[in-house]
Amino acid sequence: MGKLWGGRFEGQTDALVEALGESVSFDARLAPWDIRGSIAHAQMLGACGIIPKGDAKKIVGGLRAIAEEIATDRFVFDPALEDVHTNIEAALVERIGDAGKRLHTGRSRNDQIALDVRLWMRDQLEAVGEQLRGLQRAFVDMAEAHIEVILPGCTHLQHAQPVLLAHHLLAYVEMLGRDRKRFAELHRRVDVLPLGSAALAGTPYAIDRKMVARELGFARVSENSMDAVADRDHLIEFCAHAAICMMHLSRWCEELVLWSTPEYGFIEIGDAFTTGSSIMPQKKNPDVAELVRGKTGRVYGDLVALLTIMKGLPLTYNRDLQEDKEPLFDASDTLQLSLAVLARMTPAITVHADRMLEAAQEGFMEATDVADYLVEKGAPFREAHETAGRLVRYCIKHGKRLPELCPKEFQSFSSLFQPDVAQALTPHGLVSRRKQVGGTSPVRVRAALRKARRAIDGAAG
Ligand code: ARG
Repeated sequence: MGKLWGGRFEGQTDALVEALGESVSFDARLAPWDIRGSIAHAQMLGACGIIPKGDAKKIVGGLRAIAEEIATDRFVFDPALEDVHTNIEAALVERIGDAGKRLHTGRSRNDQIALDVRLWMRDQLEAVGEQLRGLQRAFVDMAEAHIEVILPGCTHLQHAQPVLLAHHLLAYVEMLGRDRKRFAELHRRVDVLPLGSAALAGTPYAIDRKMVARELGFARVSENSMDAVADRDHLIEFCAHAAICMMHLSRWCEELVLWSTPEYGFIEIGDAFTTGSSIMPQKKNPDVAELVRGKTGRVYGDLVALLTIMKGLPLTYNRDLQEDKEPLFDASDTLQLSLAVLARMTPAITVHADRMLEAAQEGFMEATDVADYLVEKGAPFREAHETAGRLVRYCIKHGKRLPELCPKEFQSFSSLFQPDVAQALTPHGLVSRRKQVGGTSPVRVRAALRKARRAIDGAAG
């Protein structure tokens, strides 16, 4: 293979430069979008009389045939042809002859790659949005199936106050809802056609950018050719949103790892999503949760790689920009795989409701409500807090739980205690009293579940 665009050169390229500079090993996946963009470009060139209409037709036919070859795995990408763009252009010329040599009129690989990534990203945003919905649905289903289940709510990983498992799960539905919004908002910024910027300064040909934008379904055309070929903000945003979303998934995974230990015993993850040990026959490891937690670090790396690639680049295109694709693809693939596997694993989680309830009665989680009880009877909160604290100390000393104390014991700490106090301290009582918007009472949680369902299934949500 001779030198690409060798007109200007006398010498050949060093053999190592191909290994360093080829991108087709990772950008070949852009081929379907690259071809879509080229078809729209060729049709516009023909319609505007920039190339003969007959040539435009031949180009479109040739590109469609190549797309078919790629889709059916019959196309061979050649690293000597550097990237996806050159591979497809070379195949086109081989297939249709000289007409193919007119395709690159009025464009550059710089605006071409900018276009390809935007087209690709629009589709990924849609796919990620669907997957986020899928995982939200899985959480809502799990919440509904265990609507009565109570477990310890924690701060500092210490027992704090009992909550409904459904309330806990709905917290993740909220996080994923914000993730969905972030990706949806990004769509608006991606929805801009960069083609027509050419190498960096625009093109002297009388192209019709609006026509290409319409054909490819872009809302706007870019306003500055230099920015359009140099801008990678949307890749960074995609990775940033992916990093935040992975952080959410990772926190959930951390909880699953903890909950499935014998010390917690809150859940068991189904065989399809756990693995054994090569040496310890008794083991059932939560590898899926651990892997998603681990992959989160990798997606953070993708974000940092992109930010670092960009920070020193003068306008406009620099070859460094070719390094943007691997982190972007990795972040997208990792996020989509993680969302998909967690959505499938969720129904395979068995909840040990008895064990959760038992734990919800450990750790004196009734203490806040003891204080609240006294406040209701007229005590100032700080005093009530002090009294409840002394009661906890008494319980620890005598090996009792707060609801086990008899009225006399309560009354020896404050005359405001009535015989009804112990009844108010059941896990169900504690949970049910938190009836304000955002609280964990069953009434509220049921309403929140209905609202979540609507938001997930609705177009806007
Ligand atoms: N493969 C290149 C990339 O991904 C396409 C643009 C090449 N442009 C150039 N002037 N070498 O960035």
